[in-house]
Amino acid sequence: AFKPRIFSGIQPSGGLTLGNYLGALKRFVAEQGRMETVYCLVDQHAITVWQDPDALRRQTRELAAGFIASGIDPAKSILFNQSQVAEHAQLAWIFNCVARMGWMQRMTQWKDKAGKNTQNASLGLLAYPALMAADILVYHATHVPVGEDQKQHVELTRDIANKFNHDYKVDFFPEPEPVIEGAATRVMSLRDGSKKMSKSDPSDMSRINMTDDADAIAQKIRKAKTDPEALPSEAKGLEGRPEARNLVNIYAALADMSVDDVLREVGGKPFSEFKPMLSDLAVDKMAPISTEMARLMQNPDEIDAILRRGAEQAREIAAPILQRTYDIVGM
Ligand code: ADP
Ligand code: NA
Repeated sequence: AFKPRIFSGIQPSGGLTLGNYLGALKRFVAEQGRMETVYCLVDQHAITVWQDPDALRRQTRELAAGFIASGIDPAKSILFNQSQVAEHAQLAWIFNCVARMGWMQRMTQWKDKAGKNTQNASLGLLAYPALMAADILVYHATHVPVGEDQKQHVELTRDIANKFNHDYKVDFFPEPEPVIEGAATRVMSLRDGSKKMSKSDPSDMSRINMTDDADAIAQKIRKAKTDPEALPSEAKGLEGRPEARNLVNIYAALADMSVDDVLREVGGKPFSEFKPMLSDLAVDKMAPISTEMARLMQNPDEIDAILRRGAEQAREIAAPILQRTYDIVGM
């Protein structure tokens, strides 16, 4: 039996969005104190597609500020930057030799991000899930809170753990479980209900950024695409209405309510009434976080000290697990 431990990461690949907050950060905060929690800024994943060095540095600090401002407490969680703990890349190499090409080529994120011209995509973009498996397994993590888009990669992590254990006839790596809970495991774009709200899609100006002020949040919600119907009073009335469903999901996640409870309150209201309610709630919850992020960004030394200490704590767990892995492999 493995000691329960949570690991999850976010890429410094752009400004954090409301999707990252509801699908990841808010849930990371909720796990603190329940289990040991290890959270990582995965900068080595960010460079699988081109990142400008100055932007990467800035986004890494901003991401750290987002974690801390959301409530990740360095006294309760280990928070660090992936490239500062070399064991991730070292274990990833071993996993590159365990994972099969076909597994990688089947990943939907690879297909989406590589596009048609796969010959010109980076090798790192294809191998990304093996590094992600190393991120998780170098801590022997058992639970991985993620949004829906990452489910397939956590399942691949289980396959890698399983194949390693089988090939070397050991019971060394746990098979970690994806934890995908709550109303906002897939926040959609506010202008297109069929696309995920993503920090890696700079062309989508409708996305709510965690650094947005009250006016920006209110304006984006006012402009959000909707349909002409009033809100239904039951969840099944959201079928075939992706934009309505998305706004209700966001409301439920922000308010810590179930979708059914939200609809009991707002069913029958037109969007002209619901949007200001959602906007007030979003401002109420997000504005203090964006204020604290701005304060932290003015104090980079405070951020860097937290990440340095986190990297030391992370290495204390990761180094012996890598060493054991080398022993098993015969290195
Ligand atoms: P992005 O896709 O925004 O660049 P990452 O790939 O760095 O974000 O993912 C960081 C975490 O945020 C992951 O757990 C991912 O599942 C979650 N996440 C990203 N976008 C969303 C979204 N729109 N809704 C819910 N969770 C999301
Ligand atoms: Na993603």
